[in-house]
Amino acid sequence: MTTTSTRPKSLLSVLQGDTGPRPPIWLMRQAGRYLPEYRELRARAGSFLNLCYNPVHAAEVTLQPIRRFGFDASILFADILLLPNAMGQQLDYREGEGPVMEPIRSVEALKQLGERDIHATLAPVYETVRLLRKALPETCTLIGFAGAPWTVATYMVEGRGGNDQAAAKTWAYGDPEGFQVLIDRLVDATIDYLSKQVEAGAEVVQIFDTWAGALPEADFRRWCLKPVLSIVQGLRERHPNIPVIAFPRGVGLNYASFAETRAINAVSLDTAVPMDFARQLQKHIVVQGNLDPRYLVTGGAALRREAERLLQALGHGPYIFNLGHGIVPETPPENVAELVKLVQDWRA
Ligand code: CP3
Repeated sequence: MTTTSTRPKSLLSVLQGDTGPRPPIWLMRQAGRYLPEYRELRARAGSFLNLCYNPVHAAEVTLQPIRRFGFDASILFADILLLPNAMGQQLDYREGEGPVMEPIRSVEALKQLGERDIHATLAPVYETVRLLRKALPETCTLIGFAGAPWTVATYMVEGRGGNDQAAAKTWAYGDPEGFQVLIDRLVDATIDYLSKQVEAGAEVVQIFDTWAGALPEADFRRWCLKPVLSIVQGLRERHPNIPVIAFPRGVGLNYASFAETRAINAVSLDTAVPMDFARQLQKHIVVQGNLDPRYLVTGGAALRREAERLLQALGHGPYIFNLGHGIVPETPPENVAELVKLVQDWRA
C-alpha cells in the first residue's frame, strides 16, 4: 500500500493516545532557508521580522514545506523572540549574526519596559494561525509554539545568541529573586500568548527550551521544569484539552522529570538521547525526535539507515518522527522529500 497519510490528523491522534499504523512526521524548522521559495519570499519581504509580522507572508512560508513534502503537521512560522519584542524589548535579526536585542540585566531594566499589551504586537501572529487553519489540508495538524521562559530569558539577558548562557546564569545565580521576576513575567505572558494561538486555531503547542541542558539539576528544576509546568497549568485552565509537546533540549536523564509529571503529552528528544532510554520514556509519554539534522545533509544510504533505526526502535509505540534539533540551511530539499516518503510508507 502506498497511501501517504494514515487518517485525518495523525499527529493529534497520537497525542490523544491513539497510535496509528505509522508515526506522523514533521520537522523542526521545516520552513526556512534550505528552501529556495523561502529565500525568495524573505528577500521580497526585506527582513525576517517583516515575514513574521505579515500574516499573508507568514502563512505562505508555513505552507511551503507542506505543499512540497506533505508533512503530517505544520508549525506556525514565527519566532520565540517575538514575545520579548511584544513586551517592549527591541529586536533585530542580522545576517550571519542572528538575533540582537538591548540586554536586560536587572529588575530595574525590566521595569523600564513598562506594562504593554503584548497582543497589540502579536495580533498578526494570531491572524497567521487563522489563515493557516483555513488553508491547511484536512490531515495536517497545526502546531503553535512559544519559547520556554529560561531559553527566552537567555536571549533577553545576553542580548544575542550565544553558547554559554553566561549573562543569564550570572543574574540567576547571583540574584535569584530578581531573575524570578523576569521568569514570572515570561510565564504569565507565555500563557496569554499560547492561549491566543489556541483560540485562533492552533491544535497542539510546543514549548522550546533549547538551552535547558545548560543548567545543573536544582537550577534546571527552578528555571526550566517549574516555569514550563506553570505555563501548562495556566494554559489548561483556559483550554483543558490542548496537547503540549515539551522540548527541553540536552537535559539527559531529566527527560524523565517531564514524563513523570503527567501534565505534558509528549517530549521532543535531542539527538544524543539513547534509544533504550527513549523506549523507557515511551512507556509513560509520547516521544518525538531525534534524527540528527546532519543526516539530512548527508542523505543517501546513511540517512535511510538512521531513519529506519529510529522507526524500528520507536515506531511500534507512541511516536512522532522528527529531528533532534532544527533543519540546517545547507540541507538539500530532495533529502527531506526522501525522508518523508520513507516514514510515510513505513508500517509498524
Ligand atoms: O519552521 C519552524 O520550525 C517554525 C518557525 C521557527 C523559527 N524559529 C523560525 C526562524 C521556530 C519554531 C523557531 C524557534 C526558535 N527561534 C528557537 C527554538 C528552537 C531552536 O532552534 O533551538 C530559538 C532558539 C529561536 C531564536 C532564533 N531565531 C535564533 C537564535 C535565530 C538565528 C539563528 C538562525 O537559525 O538563523 C533565529 C532566526 C530564525 N527563526 C530563522 C527562522 C526560519 C532564520 C531567519 C532567516 O534568516 O530567515
